[in-house]
Amino acid sequence: MQAARRPVRHFLQFTDFSRAEYEHLFARTRWIKDRFKRYRRYWPLEDRTLAMIFEKPSTRTRLSFEAGMHQLGGAAIYLFTRDSQLGRGEPVEDAAQVISRMCDLVMIRTFEQSIIERFAHNSRVPVINGLTNEYHPCQILADVFTFIEQRGAIKGKTVAWIGDSNNVCNTWLQAAEIFDFKLNVSTPPGYEKEPDRKTKNSESFADPMQAAKGAHLVTTDVWTSMGFESENETRQRDFEDWQVDAAMMKAARKDALFMHCLPAHRGEEVAKEVIDGSQSVIWEEAENRLHTQKALMEFLLLGKVKGR
Ligand code: CP
Ligand code: NVA
Repeated sequence: MQAARRPVRHFLQFTDFSRAEYEHLFARTRWIKDRFKRYRRYWPLEDRTLAMIFEKPSTRTRLSFEAGMHQLGGAAIYLFTRDSQLGRGEPVEDAAQVISRMCDLVMIRTFEQSIIERFAHNSRVPVINGLTNEYHPCQILADVFTFIEQRGAIKGKTVAWIGDSNNVCNTWLQAAEIFDFKLNVSTPPGYEKEPDRKTKNSESFADPMQAAKGAHLVTTDVWTSMGFESENETRQRDFEDWQVDAAMMKAARKDALFMHCLPAHRGEEVAKEVIDGSQSVIWEEAENRLHTQKALMEFLLLGKVKGR
């Protein structure tokens, strides 16, 4: 089933869209969110089906895509590796051929980025990255939108990333280049960014306090990401000094925001007083996963829709 005739676009990493396309997505997000808040029905994706393939657990990503698709008039189907033939070794290329003949859109959460790329290469329909070991573009879509919603333009601002140089950090690095803001990154020794991920918009700091200094936004993530659980014990020791606490927020600007993609571990990567404090916008950030991804699905299936 392939209704759209235009070339298939995917959202596999943040660099897949241009700044102008993000601006369109954010304008659509504002429109879709406002309408949703006023209980006004908007069903542009009636009769469309989203397949959601998960190889790792999720709360926010599953819920926001599933609820979002329903709210746009379509249907969503959840597949977990364990319960599908993918878990029994069916080639990802074969799964892509079949799933994309039955559904209009696919979202995948998996391990290596190469898996989602192989899937997309064999898919007739748009594929969305719902998190890989390397990237989490849907998260940063919501995070940048949330920053702009709270504080206005992100261009020229400073974002401080404290902690692991993981999938979320890699995506912030891509976003910094596209939106032209500065990204200060501080990771413990041995966990630095891979050299080829460094960009002209990023700066590395050995001292997390220095990274946070003067930042408009301070953000972090778990010390141990999904799939890396065997390193947990070592990481607990290595990351001890990379907790975003009140002193670190004080080093940032007075009006700095705090964000976390969630789930969070209070007392590890973030102090309770910060994540539950007045500078934290984590609930707005989480909610915006829903609204931004509705705009993303509309864009991938219908192109640049103008206000309706
Ligand atoms: N932030 C995020 O992607 O959360 P989930 O793992 O719950 O989907
Ligand atoms: N970096 C985390 C993000 C979870 C949403 C992970 O990959 O587990």
